[in-house]
Amino acid sequence: MTRKTPDLHAAYALDSPEESRRLYAQWAEDYDQGFAAREDYMLPLHTARAFATAGGQGPVLDVGAGTGLCGAVLSQFGLGPIDATDISAEMLDRAMTKDIYRDAIVADLNVGIPAPADSYAGIVSSGTFTLGHVGPSALPNLLDVARRGAQFAISINAQHYAEAGFDAAFADLQRDRISDFTLTEVRIYGDLAAGPNKDDTALIALFEKS
Ligand SMILES: C[S@@+](CC[C@H](N)C(=O)[O-])C[C@H]1O[C@@H](n2cnc3c(N)ncnc32)[C@H](O)[C@@H]1O
Repeated sequence: MTRKTPDLHAAYALDSPEESRRLYAQWAEDYDQGFAAREDYMLPLHTARAFATAGGQGPVLDVGAGTGLCGAVLSQFGLGPIDATDISAEMLDRAMTKDIYRDAIVADLNVGIPAPADSYAGIVSSGTFTLGHVGPSALPNLLDVARRGAQFAISINAQHYAEAGFDAAFADLQRDRISDFTLTEVRIYGDLAAGPNKDDTALIALFEKS
């Protein structure tokens, strides 16, 4: 029996971390040459650029790093060291073949990241805070492993931002946990994208840990 390669439609319909683990185990091999190339996937570039432009420095944690597309851009900018964390060991295996990352950490962001407090001066995330994936309740788990003053660049699918309560979560965090919060809207895909989601946008949240 031939198995259908996962696609964005299936990814947006995920309903649990276990489903994510299963889908991305199947998607890892084809993700770069299939989805990312076909859809002209630009979000990792936008996210890495926003981080670098804001003055972000290493050590950096790439959250939901997948196959390493965001880390690859950070590395081209000369930023490092970079660690990768993701729920999918198969996606991280692909990332680690690229000689970008110092370390790979398999973790469910909803549960926590098994790294010491204050490990990172920068946190980036591209494409993981999206429909069917990770919601705002995971944000404190990212703050736990960041140093005071750490720069964050977190991309969040715009529809997910509106539907999952990110506004309220960021308002709450701005009371005492984060500062210098800004949001910038970017297109997730480039001009070569042709699929039904080609015009989707994401909000890149830039902020610092207080
Ligand atoms: C659309 S991919 C983005 C990968 C990469 N950052 C990029 O931009 O290409 C989403 C990633 O989130 C990961 N993911 C989904 N749910 C997760 C969770 N609960 N904890 C950690 N990672 C998760 C998936 O395994 C997948 O690698």
